[in-house]
Amino acid sequence: MDQFKETILKLDRAVPRYTSYPTAPHFQKNEDGGRQYQNALSHLSPKNPVSLYFHLPFCQKLCWYCGCNTKITQRYAPIEDYLHLIYREIDMVADAIGFKSMVSHIHFGGGSPGLIHPKDFLKLMERIRQRFDVLAECEIAIELDPREVTHDLAQSYVQAGVKRASLGCQSFDLKVLSSVNRQQTYAMSANAVEQLRSAGVEKISFDLIYGLPHQDARSIEHSMRRAIGLKPDRVSFFGYAHVPWVKKHMRLIPEEFLPDNGSRYDQFLAGSEYLQQNGFIPVGIDHFAKSDDSLIKSLNNKTLRRNFQGYTDDTASALIGFGASSIGETAEGYFQNAPQTELYKKDILDGKLPNHKVFTFEQADKIRKEIISELMCYGSIDLHETIQKWDLDDNYFNLEISALSYFDEIELITFKDRLSFEINQEARLAWRIIASIFDAYLVRNSVEPKHAQAV
Ligand SMILES: C[S@@+](CC[C@H](N)C(=O)[O-])C[C@H]1O[C@@H](n2cnc3c(N)ncnc32)[C@H](O)[C@@H]1O
Ligand code: SF4
Repeated sequence: MDQFKETILKLDRAVPRYTSYPTAPHFQKNEDGGRQYQNALSHLSPKNPVSLYFHLPFCQKLCWYCGCNTKITQRYAPIEDYLHLIYREIDMVADAIGFKSMVSHIHFGGGSPGLIHPKDFLKLMERIRQRFDVLAECEIAIELDPREVTHDLAQSYVQAGVKRASLGCQSFDLKVLSSVNRQQTYAMSANAVEQLRSAGVEKISFDLIYGLPHQDARSIEHSMRRAIGLKPDRVSFFGYAHVPWVKKHMRLIPEEFLPDNGSRYDQFLAGSEYLQQNGFIPVGIDHFAKSDDSLIKSLNNKTLRRNFQGYTDDTASALIGFGASSIGETAEGYFQNAPQTELYKKDILDGKLPNHKVFTFEQADKIRKEIISELMCYGSIDLHETIQKWDLDDNYFNLEISALSYFDEIELITFKDRLSFEINQEARLAWRIIASIFDAYLVRNSVEPKHAQAV
């Protein structure tokens, strides 16, 4: 085994993916009937555009690796009912804001938002446009299960203004897919791409996963070859997060078929090298994009941000989440809706904003959030800037700096001076581990295995 791989495997530990800081397990229960959330919404400024996220927690069949908030249904009635709750939530949120806010990004995630029928999707977009000022340049994106994409759906997306579709290809290895209860052929993904492109959806992203049962570096190279042949603009290459203590259905995956962390390392490396040899540029820990993609522009001009979907060029000052479990963010903190659809429904029908959890930022959280975001986006940090911006004592990060000296010794990071360092660009699998040094909450709660391993 090469030295570098051995070093990273030795360091491998359970750390968050830092799609937020602090991470969702640290949000606190909020039983004020949505008043704090209402207050935060009323503080938004008409001058700054916001981002909207819509969560559809329904799928037709459960993938055993799934870490998302979703429920299985074969019927359309629960989806139709849920959309009526979303319409009411749109009105409640818009009323709380008090003006027709500009919107620069809209993301539909899930679950499988592709299950929404074309006419209902158009209606949903119309309801959004009635209460929000969706800017002409607004990026409207949707996560789609390739098995569900039809001609009519693709047409409705273009009509509704959707510009980007993220297709859950996952793998092009049938043995891997069937071992996790996902019956999906290459032809289904190719058809989805064809339908979306011919309808006029401008940008196509793929989700691919490594670390699933039966996967190895060869299987990953095969999947990458097939993926690249379909010419996506972006690829998100996620490591399977196996957390059966959180998602009980993951126990359906026999652990003896899961690759060990040495194989996971090889799989990530094989996929990452294949993508780079084919003109994709790495972004953060697990995204890859073509050089003309907006993510690369934001990487180069340093406006890249980490968010709940991964990485984004979205620079909106606030994110508003709609639907069960969705998370929003304002200058005050994070606000999460009730995760269970029944609780979400009850609040909406009672005329209350369905916010169930909050995290209010203290100054120390804002400082660490900025640092962790910078490390997760760029793999480097200049703490002189942080100290100056927040008017901190020069010794504020002494503990972290001394913890980091070990990573310097093993050549995973390089210090430029006492307060600025760069993580080895080849060590993307270790970026989360280095970022976690600045996580004040992880240290206090290190006993509980809440997260998946970093590799
Ligand atoms: C909401 S799904 C995408 C849309 C659609 N439901 C589908 O599966 O095609 C979000 C993505 O999260 C990723 N994902 C889900 N569970 C995961 C896990 N446990 N570990 C890593 N990635 C996961 C998958 O790549 C999936 O495409
Ligand atoms: S991976 Fe996608 S389709 Fe599969 S259960 Fe999760 S959300 Fe549904």
